[in-house]
Amino acid sequence: MIGKPEPAKTLADLMPGDPGRAETVARMIRVDQAGEYGAKRIYAGQLAVLGRSRAAPALRRMAEQEQKHLDTFNRLMVERRVRPTLLQPLWHVAGFALGAATALMGEKAAMACTVAVEETIDEHYRRQAAALAAEEPELKDTIEEFREDELEHRATALEHGAKETPGYEPLTFAIKRASRLAIWLSERF
Ligand SMILES: [Fe+2]
Ligand SMILES: [Fe+2]
Repeated sequence: MIGKPEPAKTLADLMPGDPGRAETVARMIRVDQAGEYGAKRIYAGQLAVLGRSRAAPALRRMAEQEQKHLDTFNRLMVERRVRPTLLQPLWHVAGFALGAATALMGEKAAMACTVAVEETIDEHYRRQAAALAAEEPELKDTIEEFREDELEHRATALEHGAKETPGYEPLTFAIKRASRLAIWLSERF
């Protein structure tokens, strides 16, 4: 169900030539491209509000990395003929709205949003990397590398006082729920 990660099914559980195998990898690329797209839109929303603030340089650096992640998954989609999620237009709007809304609450709330999103992505990429194991070493390495970038974003956000925002706990709880729902949806549609 939503929010509860399913036990990781590894590619090794599927026989070579199994259509389920290609579909499993395609789903991963689809959801990851959607996630990186959403991340890019969150930072666009935050920068629209905080573009002249003290947090702006850090936000720009993180946004640039999200763009690189997105470019990679866009390329993988073309190479492996994976269609994008049907929900892309929704993530376009929802990502920007989440970014702008948290930024309007203040720099620290914007940073709390990053902590919540990155912790969700960390868990998501960790499960994917485990499932890919030795079967897809290149894709696995890419995901591991991006996961480290996301953890750096989390650290940056904490350095910028994310936890000092009023209502840190309920705010991050809500954003994590929403992020997990977005992952769940993007894997299926
Ligand atoms: Fe990313
Ligand atoms: Fe990130």
